[in-house]
Amino acid sequence: MSAAYVQLLDAAIAHCEALRADGIDSVPVSAETLAGLSAKRPAPVRPVAPKPAAPAARPFAFVPASMTTTPEASSPPAPVAPSSAPRPLPASVVSRWGQAARPVVPTVATKAQVLPSQPPLPPPLPPAAKDAAMAELRTRALACVQCSHLASSRQTVVFGVGDIHARLMFIGEAPGADEDQQGEPFVGKAGELLTKMIGAMGLSRSEVYIANILKCRPDTPGQTAGNRKPTPDEMATCIPWLHQQIDIIQPGVMVALGATAVEGLLGKTIGITKLRGTWQSYRGIPLMPTYHPAYLLRNQAPSEKRKVWEDLMAAMEKLTLPINAKQRAYFLPKP
Ligand code: URA
Repeated sequence: MSAAYVQLLDAAIAHCEALRADGIDSVPVSAETLAGLSAKRPAPVRPVAPKPAAPAARPFAFVPASMTTTPEASSPPAPVAPSSAPRPLPASVVSRWGQAARPVVPTVATKAQVLPSQPPLPPPLPPAAKDAAMAELRTRALACVQCSHLASSRQTVVFGVGDIHARLMFIGEAPGADEDQQGEPFVGKAGELLTKMIGAMGLSRSEVYIANILKCRPDTPGQTAGNRKPTPDEMATCIPWLHQQIDIIQPGVMVALGATAVEGLLGKTIGITKLRGTWQSYRGIPLMPTYHPAYLLRNQAPSEKRKVWEDLMAAMEKLTLPINAKQRAYFLPKP
């Protein structure tokens, strides 16, 4: 048995024990995963049996209050159970963010700390397990056909892009035509602006992680162009993929781009104008709502750009990223 396998097994056991201590006595495991475990493990281990017909037991099927539909039974199961304590990163996987700079992420939270609608994050995965869990999640997401109308209209599933060890994650709404063509979020006009904004923060796209609430482009039957907002049903069906991406990445800060991203993550339908610039919390992760870059393309007023820039600087401060005088002065009226 390899050291990595033993480490993963220890982590899985520790995670299940922590869940049990918190009153959760079952976790759903796909037939595939169970088969894989049985094939690999040398000695019998009693699996934690999924409760029959207990959708609430799906740890990643958290659906914001505004969404009333239940994801299909085939909604994504949990990634491999993680370690209960952060471990040093092997040199080969240390990203720019590094272990030392990582914020303290909550481990299994107590019931008192976490609202029922915001299930606790699992303990963070060791880096090598993160890579494997994300690759496995991606493979399953790419084959998703839960929204049959979107599965038949899409060119690609736009899963997400960037560093899965990043401390900063951007969440958008849904792929547009360019993203659908290229299979990557934010590559069209709004994406170009987002890339510039990330650059202004002193980062590059490959140093953050970017994903959307919806992985497929919302279809526009009868139209040759244009976009539409995802429906509550589509969001409720798709959101478990994003929850799992966040479970794996566990960034120090998330930036929600636009009202739909906030609605998808928090279930809040308060206007983005009211919410932007105010720190929110997604399962213990600080979340900064700001305007969508597409809004800035429509409204080029420096005052609006400055608001978004202030939100991004707040995110930088939270991450203790340096901000120089030139950055502080962006979009301020010249004296
Ligand atoms: N708008 C989004 O919200 N996401 C994308 O990926 C592209 C445009």
